[in-house]
Amino acid sequence: MVKKYVFGTPYKTLSVVNEKDTECIVVNDNDLNNQNTVMPNPFNKVELTCDGGDYFHESLDVMEVQKYKGFKAVITLENNSKVYGLGLQMGSINKRGRVYRSFCTDDPVHSEDKQSLYGAHNFIVINNGNGDTFGIFIDYPGPVVFDIGWTNTNELVIATENANLNIYYIKEETIQKVVHTFRTMIGKSYIPPFWAFGFMQSRWGYASKKDLIDVYENHKKHNLPLDAIFLDIDYMDGFRDFTYNKDAFDSDDGENGFSKCVKELLDKGIHVVPIIDAGIKAEKDFAVDREGVENNYYCKTIDGNDFLAAVWPGFSHFVDVTQDSSRKWFGNLCKKFLDDNNLSGFWLDMNEPAIFYSKDGVEEFGKKLVKWGAQCENPVGSDILTWKIKDAVLGVQNNLSDYKSFYHKVPKTDAGGLAQSTTQLNCNLNEKSSGLLNSENDVFVRHDKIHNLYGYLLTRAVGEAINTCSGDPAKTPLLFSRASFIGSHRYGGIWTGDNCSWWSHILLCLQQLPALNMAGYLYTGCDLGGFGDNTNRELLLRFLALGIFTPLMRNHSALGTRRQECYNFGDTDDFRAILSLRYRLLPYLYDEYLWAANNYELYFRPLAFDYNDSESQNCVDQLMLGRDIMIAPVYTPNATGRAVYLPCNMYQITCTLNNGCVTGDGENILLNKGFHWVKCLPNEIVFFIKEDHKIPICNAACSTKSLDKTIVTYWGCQ
Ligand code: GLC
Repeated sequence: MVKKYVFGTPYKTLSVVNEKDTECIVVNDNDLNNQNTVMPNPFNKVELTCDGGDYFHESLDVMEVQKYKGFKAVITLENNSKVYGLGLQMGSINKRGRVYRSFCTDDPVHSEDKQSLYGAHNFIVINNGNGDTFGIFIDYPGPVVFDIGWTNTNELVIATENANLNIYYIKEETIQKVVHTFRTMIGKSYIPPFWAFGFMQSRWGYASKKDLIDVYENHKKHNLPLDAIFLDIDYMDGFRDFTYNKDAFDSDDGENGFSKCVKELLDKGIHVVPIIDAGIKAEKDFAVDREGVENNYYCKTIDGNDFLAAVWPGFSHFVDVTQDSSRKWFGNLCKKFLDDNNLSGFWLDMNEPAIFYSKDGVEEFGKKLVKWGAQCENPVGSDILTWKIKDAVLGVQNNLSDYKSFYHKVPKTDAGGLAQSTTQLNCNLNEKSSGLLNSENDVFVRHDKIHNLYGYLLTRAVGEAINTCSGDPAKTPLLFSRASFIGSHRYGGIWTGDNCSWWSHILLCLQQLPALNMAGYLYTGCDLGGFGDNTNRELLLRFLALGIFTPLMRNHSALGTRRQECYNFGDTDDFRAILSLRYRLLPYLYDEYLWAANNYELYFRPLAFDYNDSESQNCVDQLMLGRDIMIAPVYTPNATGRAVYLPCNMYQITCTLNNGCVTGDGENILLNKGFHWVKCLPNEIVFFIKEDHKIPICNAACSTKSLDKTIVTYWGCQ
């Protein structure tokens, strides 16, 4: 049963595409005085008040607060209620005990204190036990706060800055049914091509043909399977999208050496996937940018100028993703770049959008420095000033005032209550941009109010142009993004962004996976080995041991960190074993992915979704995968194994280099339901198959191109 509560005039996000069995209830302000008759049971308080802004006042101007109508809903949590979801977020599988802020953020330090990452996935499921389960989706494009039992242990508070939103309430008997219903509402998840389940190597710093060939040759030399190599920003000419560095790729004969190099690799079975960043270098001599300026494809400031802010290429322009014409333009640029260069897809980055600094931001910072300097007798020797400066420097990046200083052009019918009412603004913009606004049909919306849609709409632009929803995975390019909002799962996957080479980030990834699946993101995974910081052999092996089960299996690391390719840690046999096992499992894993995508099911589930016993209900470091298996990766250093809880009788499969990973059968022991200490050294892979179930295994291969998918054996029940 689904009910949609409409407050004010919501922005049309198109997150939900199927409202077939949805009852729609329009909530008038007055109804809220008598809210029990309007809202379902779990909402014990819904307010349209500036109180909703308790969480937001810091981000509002004083004038705004006075005329402000925010939204706040309070739901009582039972002592044993569990709350799941929120997609890409910090925290454990059960989200209780923290405050979360949906606000797509470029933050490379995923430490425990963080409230926002790159995605805004406002879907939660509350399980009160005894069949009392429901889901809530907050369909709202701006910042949303979820205070899940942090301020008050037994209260879940949801607040938005503005009272124009849809709340979907989904009541079903089980968590899985709630999620299934939600997933049918938001439409089918992206299905990648089979090769995108192969092992992929990436590093910020690969800059030339030589770098790519080097990765390929090393994998070949050490018999390490490989399906794709990623190109980070260094392949570009000065970080300009849709260009490549001619010096690094072209040969003397002036031929397009980039496309040639990509083709050579493709012929060897290696797909090349470049990064595309959201910011387009602002430069008169850059043809792409000129086209964007001339056709008003970019976001505008209040004076009618194109909004400018610095990212990797320096000052850049930002595609106005709410305009059909801008999206088509950007998408077609991607399509042409892909076709011209034999590329196999894209990873979209910096599309929160990330902003390093704006001119105004830097000026503001300068003014502060002058003011503080004048107030301080000895600025050079002042430690207080030093701290103030440090905070001010950090505050320049991804600053809210920058997000409030530009506008999107939006069809009137979509913008709802978020439309900018200031007619002066419309005049400014219109005058400067020669009738940019067709006031009959379009309005402006300030970016911060729809900030969370940026990555989604950019993914949509590219997905529509390169046809990622064709329904024919074999012909589908690979596409995944960093920023996201529910809806973009139909066009591509996401990766979990800039994690670190930290042991805790293996567990963090494991805990994010089911929540991402709940939000529709099935094609997902983390930077294996960790992006920031320096990994070591053992940590990389343990990351990979989780990665062989994640649909997106990519080793990626940051510039300046220790080299992280599998052939940089001495003996490569252990790495060969792990990567080979991935290929032996591929037909099974891809099938389970198709099952999950086509049936709106979860590829990864917490044990609590499948089993009711209290051990399963409280287990936060193991996952069910597909219909048959359970994984329990090791995520602590110097471990020889770990404790594992089996929610039913299961086969323990242990694979090693000589026993299962590359050839032969893994060791197979049937264990009883309950707790077990399971030995698992860094060069072993252990996973579990439910009693009475078996999974198909094929022979290992060095890429999906040479993989023979014929099933040679079954593991599990014989
Ligand atoms: C961002 C991305 C990271 C990439 C880097 C350079 O930090 O998240 O994956 O390597 O930018 O492009």
